Parts: sequence; C-alpha cells; structure tokens
Amino acid sequence: MSASTAPSAPMVALRRALQPGRPISGQSLARSLGVSRTAVWKMLEDLRAWGYRIDAAPRRGYRLVSAPDLPLPWEVAMALPPSLAGLPVHFFPVVGSTNDEARRLAEAGGPAGTVVVADRQTSGRGRRGRTWVSPPGGLYFSVLVRPQLEPRHVSLLSLASAVAVTRAVQSALPGAGARVKWPNDVIAGGRKLAGILAELSADQETVRFAVIGIGINVETPELDPAPAAGGLPPIGLRQLGWTQPRAEVLGRVLAALHRLLGGFEPRQLPAAALVAEASSLLAWKGEEVEVQTPSGSWRGRLAGLAGDGALVLERAGGVRQRLYAGDVTLREAGGPPPTDPGGPRSIERGG
Ligand code: BTN
Repeated sequence: MSASTAPSAPMVALRRALQPGRPISGQSLARSLGVSRTAVWKMLEDLRAWGYRIDAAPRRGYRLVSAPDLPLPWEVAMALPPSLAGLPVHFFPVVGSTNDEARRLAEAGGPAGTVVVADRQTSGRGRRGRTWVSPPGGLYFSVLVRPQLEPRHVSLLSLASAVAVTRAVQSALPGAGARVKWPNDVIAGGRKLAGILAELSADQETVRFAVIGIGINVETPELDPAPAAGGLPPIGLRQLGWTQPRAEVLGRVLAALHRLLGGFEPRQLPAAALVAEASSLLAWKGEEVEVQTPSGSWRGRLAGLAGDGALVLERAGGVRQRLYAGDVTLREAGGPPPTDPGGPRSIERGG
C-alpha cells in the first residue's frame, strides 16, 4: 500500500469514535462526523485495509475488535495534545530513509512540523556514515523544523531531541532510568535506546530547514546484543516494559520536542531552559569517561554541560575543557568497553 498522507479530520474523529466493546451505528457515525454514510463505509474499508478488525452487526453497528500497532497519521493525531492535532504526518510502510523523504517534502515547501514516519527503512542512516538497521517494529521518524538559527547552534536541535525522547520515555516508564547520552543518544540501563541524526539545509549564516531523524528501538529480539565497536548494546522500549502502541510514543516525543524548541518554527531557541533540562537528564555525570572527538581522544570526569550545550570535561589537575562533538564512553570498571582502537565499525546495530 502506498504512503498515507496527513490525516483528515473525519478520519481522526472516526478513529476516536471506534472503541473496543462500544458498537456505534453507521448513522450516528455519519451524523457526528458530518459526512455521508457512504463516506463512513469507505473510511471503515480504508481502516480494514490497514489491518483494523472492525465487526459489523445488523442492529448494533460497528465495533472495533483490534487495531494494528502502526504509527498511522490518525493514530498519531490521537496521541498528540489538541494544539498539535493538525500536524501533517506521512506514514510509509517501507521507505529508504525518513530523513530523505522529509527533506524532499521540505524542499517542496512542506510546513514546519511535518513528520515522516516509517514501519521499516531500507537505507536507514546513523551518524558518521553508519547504517541504522531498521527492521519492522521499530520507530523511525523525521521532523521538519524551520528555526531561525545560525548553523553553529544547530547541535542544540539534536540535544533537544534527545531530551524529548528521554522525557517521553520517563513520562510512561519512570523506573526505566532513561538518560541523555551527550550529545544525541538516549540510553537506559547502560544500553542504547535511541539515536538522532539531524541534517541541515543551510548556507553560512542561516539554516533554511533542519530534518531531525530519530530512531527508537521498540522491539529488539532479533538484534544482536553485542555492541558495535565503541558503542553500546541496544535495548528496546518493550524490554523496558512499554506496552502502548508506537503512535503513543511518537505523540509524546513530538509534544515534548515542540515544547523544548518553542515550536517547530522558533524565532529563537529557548537555549538556557533546554540546556538546563538536558543537564538534569545527563548520563554519567561525575563519572570518568573518554570522549573521542575529531581532534583526538580525551579522558576526564564528566562535569556537566556548559550554557551552549558543550560537554564539560574535568581533566587531570582540574582543567576544565569544553567539547562540542564526540562519542562518550564510560571508563568505569564494569562499564562498556573502550572505543575500538581500529576506529568505528561502519555498521551500528541500533535500530
Ligand atoms: C545514530 O545514533 O547514529 C543516529 C541514528 C538515527 C536513525 C534515524 S531513524 C529515522 C531517521 N532516518 C534515518 O535514516 N536515520 C534517522
């Protein structure tokens, strides 16, 4: 089936009206949705084609038996706060990379806040040229933002996204211990739960748009628990106890991201509040870490974040150093293995 586009208001209303154990007649549906009975019938057929089981009994009407766990646009709309319910959400059963689709929509003039989500990616990308393995059942999505931002401040977008995912997970699973692994991963119990790849269209002074790609592990049974070199083994939301549909996760992340960025088209990022929130959720604060940066590898105590989102490392002799990019690994005994001296593997088992 081809991609579905932004949800129509009657479809969202129909989906809300259809509840397990509560049959509703075609006539009542048509009246409350403000459409014809034929239109209701057509929408019900569309839902069935996506895998919904809907019973129809002669005098009682339609009853939802089960809904597929797919982040379909109307399911996402139901998981969003009312102020965001009109967000354009494009769902693809299979796509190369949601970041590529979001970029295509951005270049065609798509509005800020456009979301592209897929059940599966065939060319999912991670950072540093890695592949993001994207089997069905994970959560792979990209959000188009049009901030008024200088390119050098763009790392705050990824930091905000890591905070948004962490907050969304914490809100449903407070005991899971989700934390931000600077600069843009989310971990739980020392394992990688989510990764972020923000890509820009910018010139030297201005960002035209940014595509924030987020991959969250949901089901991970078939993933190799061995970490990629220098990386962390994966963990999925289901392993942490999350039982709700993927659309609910996506709705929570989008709501948190919208709050943290001050909208999807912010004139100015609320940087101080954002960095303060990231600091409070930071993994490995006070621990001995190693940070691999493009200019070399640094060891020290992870002291926290500076006001601009840089990582502050306290090195031997108390020297504090700000780092703006890099991969952090824990040096403590029992922590993950140090970075492979041979360099990062090209494939990260993550998605
Ligand atoms: C990383 O940790 O290396 C970042 C992984 C980012 C993966 C997401 S999945 C949705 C979006 N589409 C992609 O191709 N990549 C990002």
